[in-house]
Amino acid sequence: MSNFEKIVNLITRRGFVFYSYDLYGGLKGFYDFGHLGVLMKNNIKNLWFNFILQENNIFLLETPIISKSEVFQASGHLENFYDLLIECKNCHNRFRYDHYLKGEYGEVKKNNENYLCPLCGGNLTEPKKFNLMFKTYVGPTEESAYQAFLRPETAQGIFVNFDKYLKIYRAKLPFGIAQVGKAFRNEITPKNFIFRMREFEQMEIEFFIHPQDNFDWLNYWLEKSLIWYTKFLGFKEKNLIIYEQAKEELAHYSKRTIDIYYKFPFGDDEIQGIAHRGDYDLSAHNKFSGKDLSYFDERENKKIIPYVIEPSWGVERIFLALICDAYDEDEIDGEKRIVLKLAPQVAPIKIAIFPLLSNKDNLIKKAKEIYNYLKNYYIVFYDESGSIGRRYRRQDEIGTPFCLTVDFQSLEDNTFTIRDRDTAKQDRVHFDDLLNYINEKLRKN
Ligand code: GAP
Repeated sequence: MSNFEKIVNLITRRGFVFYSYDLYGGLKGFYDFGHLGVLMKNNIKNLWFNFILQENNIFLLETPIISKSEVFQASGHLENFYDLLIECKNCHNRFRYDHYLKGEYGEVKKNNENYLCPLCGGNLTEPKKFNLMFKTYVGPTEESAYQAFLRPETAQGIFVNFDKYLKIYRAKLPFGIAQVGKAFRNEITPKNFIFRMREFEQMEIEFFIHPQDNFDWLNYWLEKSLIWYTKFLGFKEKNLIIYEQAKEELAHYSKRTIDIYYKFPFGDDEIQGIAHRGDYDLSAHNKFSGKDLSYFDERENKKIIPYVIEPSWGVERIFLALICDAYDEDEIDGEKRIVLKLAPQVAPIKIAIFPLLSNKDNLIKKAKEIYNYLKNYYIVFYDESGSIGRRYRRQDEIGTPFCLTVDFQSLEDNTFTIRDRDTAKQDRVHFDDLLNYINEKLRKN
């Protein structure tokens, strides 16, 4: 098994992520998040909110997934948000043209002027544009007048509310509007597990600046993001890469884009984009809606259309990268184990609580008391089944940073052992010091 297969195996086996609609044969590009996955995703999103709200000029917003056609007509997504698709004339499999040319489906082969199918060797069609947006209808008629789209980015919901933030929140440049939510893309070839999905979650900020602002806001958000990855989420800095997109790679709205890549086991790939969108979106909505989306600049005493710097994070890609970063196989107490060395603030369960033996009522009673106490403060887990070694291994695999064990000494002096996941070292901590001890360990840097 490759390292990536081992990681996918762990995530699915331990209930972080499942293949959606498994019961009915699955649906490519769609995934369910189980209990541990939801806890961990929420940790990522909460740590992101904590991070962005440290800035004093960021406002929040939540807008619908289903969006009016006009929005994407104005934003250029109807015309420009496509991938080039090629299809095999023989087996009818479809491929993304750019990925095909990069050799991602296997060796690129040609017969005379025709590219050949990497699966059956048949002739491939000429590249055709394939719009990535999912279409739907609002109301009881499937007529084009009622056509709507599932948003392919959360950003447009922000642009169409820009004027309200000026009026209601009296926002002054530079300021940002942030949104977390689902986005949908009918990807031609979803792949690498949850790396390329058809339904995923984004965390985005549209950061509005004065067009003549000399400050390098793109670099500002790049540096801030790197701090978030390393200090808030505990990423290893050596596994993050900065990549500037070439002109031909830029999205239709972008003047310049810098991506943050993670060194995944299947290759380096994007977890975040930071784009300079100029005044593209506000100008487009201004024009299409006929409503004034300008900003009154008091210094110059005139109306301007602000520029936008857009950092955009993908929740599931960060989730997958965190698990890859944390995955380890080592040996502890003379036994081989799989361990997720997740930062405590990211780990789904913070503390597991065990009675040393599962057949001693007094140990169980005390362990349940501690569980009932600590569950008021943290996400905790109680386990009395199997040997203590097996219970440790199960928690190591899901990244639980601490295991608290109630033993015979606990019954006498109200102290407990707390085992550290990474070193297996144990501290003995008195009940009165428990919260302080745990808080200290869980505190983010
Ligand atoms: N509003 C800008 C925007 O959407 P993007 O680079 O297309 O830019 C931003 O997407 C982020 O969303 C990516 O860096 C990635 O983390 C995530 N993302 C994009 N497509 C995805 C997909 N098919 N599956 C999972 N995540 C995706």
